[in-house]
Amino acid sequence: MTAIDPTRQTFAQRGIVTSEAVAKEFAELRKRFDEEASRCPLDIENFQNLQVAWTGRKSGILSCIGDNWLKPAPPDLKRAVGQEFQRLKAHVEAKLEEKQREIEVAAEQAAQARDRIDFSLPGVERAIGTHHIIRQTFEELQRIFLSIGFSVVEGPEIETPYYNFEALNIPEHHPARDNMDTFYIEGTRGEHLLRTHTSPMQIRTMEKQPPPVRIVVPGKVYRRDNPDATHGYMFHQIEGLAVDTDITFCDFKGTVEYFAREFLGPKTKTRLRPSYFPFTEPSAEVDATCHVCGGSGCRVCKHSGWIELFGAGMVNPAVYGFVKYDADRLSGFAFGMGVDRLAMMKYGITELLVLFQNDVRFLRQFP
Ligand code: PHE
Repeated sequence: MTAIDPTRQTFAQRGIVTSEAVAKEFAELRKRFDEEASRCPLDIENFQNLQVAWTGRKSGILSCIGDNWLKPAPPDLKRAVGQEFQRLKAHVEAKLEEKQREIEVAAEQAAQARDRIDFSLPGVERAIGTHHIIRQTFEELQRIFLSIGFSVVEGPEIETPYYNFEALNIPEHHPARDNMDTFYIEGTRGEHLLRTHTSPMQIRTMEKQPPPVRIVVPGKVYRRDNPDATHGYMFHQIEGLAVDTDITFCDFKGTVEYFAREFLGPKTKTRLRPSYFPFTEPSAEVDATCHVCGGSGCRVCKHSGWIELFGAGMVNPAVYGFVKYDADRLSGFAFGMGVDRLAMMKYGITELLVLFQNDVRFLRQFP
């Protein structure tokens, strides 16, 4: 059974007739409030319950006193009740305010404790990735050619037979197409293919700009090769082309030598072997002294002292005809490097496939 709350009854109902009795009533209430306030834990929810119980507008205790004690008080008690009521009200409000501040301070302290940074803890290590070994090799190659005045351009991987073959002086049925069998894009009646080399960008560049030209072209190329340790259906090349009015075979050889020394070390020597490409004449395979044994012969160079670097040559004048360059006035050289090959050679990698398997145990070896 819950006790009857005196504040819900009028003085008449409670039989109070003297101002001493009134004072006693208020003293009781004040004691009750002080007890409840000191028992109330320092959190918002409990505080709000206490606040509503005492100062709530509708049925808070102070409201009840106003309605049941003050308003109907007999005239001779009214003054005493009014004074006591005001005193109690001020006391309750002041105490509640104080309580609220205490709660705010406690909450603030709790938040600070939660957010405090412990500088003695070890940090969180975030792994930073690196560029793939192929990307690193591209950047190294580009750096070398940028340093001697070449600029970098890129071109489409889906090409037309015209740019991939014809304009490079490789007509249909020419045997030079044999080792460049490729993938044709379905439904385009042989009008589009995946480029087999970066050489089409020689044509596209010369079509677009007048001489002089000095470019390198990094990119992916595709061939219908049977996969083995050194072949896949996709690999990377970097093409080079220099055309001007006064470019000689010496410029070609000098550029090649500069490149080999930058890429493989200052002691590297180069040699040119005769070769054949329809778009260069004469054509050459560029060899360098083995970077492992220095030319004395080892397993890497198959005991020859030399390793094959890339194919190159002086631009075949027939090519100028396709891009409306003046073949009588202009000359130049071109080269096409297998980037994967160069990376494998330089870093002693024997399987092409590991470059593309994305096994981090392999990739981490090239930070
Ligand atoms: N495009 C040739 C190849 O892929 C390489 C090359 C480029 C040769 C430029 C000569 C000049 O085999």
